[in-house]
Formats: sequence, C-alpha cells, structure tokens
Amino acid sequence: MAKTVLVTGGTGTLGSLVTPLLREAGVRVRVLSRTAREGTDGLEYVAGDLQTGDGIAAAVTGVDTVLHLAGSPKGDGEKARILVDAIHAAGVAPHLVYISVVGAERVPVESALDRQVMAYMAAKREAELVVENSGLPWTTLRATQFHDLLFTMVSALGRLPLVPVVDFRFQPIETAEVAARLVELTLGDPAGLVDEIGGPRIYTMKELERSYLEAIGRRRPVFTVKAPGKAARAYAAGGNLTPEHAVGERTWEEFLAAKLAAA
Ligand SMILES: NC(=O)c1ccc[n+]([C@@H]2O[C@H](COP(=O)([O-])OP(=O)(O)OC[C@H]3O[C@@H](n4cnc5c(N)ncnc54)[C@H](OP(=O)(O)O)[C@@H]3O)[C@@H](O)[C@H]2O)c1
Repeated sequence: MAKTVLVTGGTGTLGSLVTPLLREAGVRVRVLSRTAREGTDGLEYVAGDLQTGDGIAAAVTGVDTVLHLAGSPKGDGEKARILVDAIHAAGVAPHLVYISVVGAERVPVESALDRQVMAYMAAKREAELVVENSGLPWTTLRATQFHDLLFTMVSALGRLPLVPVVDFRFQPIETAEVAARLVELTLGDPAGLVDEIGGPRIYTMKELERSYLEAIGRRRPVFTVKAPGKAARAYAAGGNLTPEHAVGERTWEEFLAAKLAAA
C-alpha cells in the first residue's frame, strides 16, 4: 500500500509545486486547506484550519508522513503546536517534515519593536522548536527567501512614485528547487536539522528593486531606509543569508526574465 503524505500548505506557492512531485513519486497525497476542494485520483483535500484546530484531527488520521508547509506572516509557532497536538491525539507517529527560514535561530526578536518588525522570524523559530521537541521523527529544512516572494515585494513597491527599500540583503532561491529538496526529504528517513538551502547569489533589496524597475522599463527613484530595532539590525547584518549553502542554481536574473516574459 502506498504511503500517505499529508501536505499542509499544499495549496500555496511552495506546496503547489511539491504535490505533483509527490504524486509522481507514487505516494498518496492529502492536502490540508482552509477551503474545501474536490480531490482527484490520488490527491485528496481535507478542510481544516491550523489556527483554530478545526478539521485537523481528520487530516492527520492514518498518515505516514506530514510535510508541514502551511504558514502566514504571524502565528506559525501556534500552528505547529496545534498540528503536533492533533497528531498525538490521533495516536499516530508520522515523520514530520518542516520548512523553516534561514536565520530563524539567529535573528533575536526580543523587544516589542522587534516583534512588530520580525514576528515572522520568531514564529518560525518557535515552530522549529515545536517540531524538534514533538517526540516524533522529524526533519527541518531552512530556506532563504523564494524568488516568488521577492517578486511580489519588488512589484508592489515598484508601483510607488518614490520607492523606499529596507537595508536588507537577500539570497533568493527558485521555489521549485526548494520543492524538489523537500520531496527528497519527505521520501527519505527522518534527518533532524538538515543543511540549509540558499540561492546562488546575494543582492541588496535596492539591487532587486532596481533590476525589476529596469526590466519593466519604469524609472523611479529608489532609496534605502534603515529598519529599526535589534532584530532588524541582525537581519541587515546578514542573519537571513547562508553563503556557505548557496546551492540554488537559478539566478534572480533568470527568474525575472522568465517571469516577465510569461506575463
Ligand atoms: N516565501 C518564502 O520566501 C519562504 C522562505 C522560507 C520559508 N518559507 C516557508 O515556506 C512555507 C510556504 O510558503 P509559501 O510562500 O508557499 O506560502 P503561501 O503561498 O503564502 O501559502 C501559504 C499556505 O499556508 C496555508 N495556510 C495558511 N494559514 C493556514 C491555516 N491557518 N490553516 C491551514 N493552512 C493555512 C494556505 O492554505 P489555504 O489558503 O488553502 O488554507 C497556503 O497553502 C511557509 O511555512 C513559509 O514560512 C517561505
């Protein structure tokens, strides 16, 4: 009997690239979504919400592996806790695979200001610890920012008449490359915290914004602002980067050219 893998966040940017690869590998895929959807052969949808816990018991019943990708700007620690509690309550012990972010353990989120600016990093770290201390066999992969996310950011900012960017650098990675690595980890044995995955090059936010504006032929002044607080300083100092794990192949320039050509 084929393994059943529950993919939380299977409808998202990353998850929608992961599920076809899992199907191709011959596993049964169950996707958790807050919206009820029709399934297809070998792909089942279960409606549930990791913020409220509704539907999670049914989602985790009978699964061999859980690939936990569901995420939002806030509250990922709590989502992980609700997921792990539901797994224990269902009496199953699946391999739990988690996607975190590079720098989750390095960016100190201490003050109220830090929490406003970097709540996401603190929540990812909280979720990492929930997974690690779950008592389940686990694997966690930390990735740098996806090309898709940075494209959303630069295109939104690029609509402004004057474009402010923070003094951060990014090491963007192709979402499909993260998806492929996660599938490998999901089909493999539990491995704990594995090597991080980062894109091939590092850019300032200003460089990313300028390259986008230039590529679409829009002229706008772009200026850098300092993000406030200790957490933002750690981020600006490169806390979100992993140059020693620059294993991604597709560059931002290649991604951008393909994205704009397809638009
Ligand atoms: N984007 C990046 O640059 C980046 C970098 C490193 C790590 N990550 C991590 O990778 C994961 C996926 O990111 P993404 O960019 O693909 O996200 P995304 O496109 O925003 O998708 C978010 C997914 O989470 C699900 N979700 C959100 N809240 C939920 C809730 N309360 N209950 C159940 N499901 C919920 C959504 O499902 P429905 O809407 O169908 O309910 C959706 O499938 C996240 O954990 C993120 O932190 C992202």
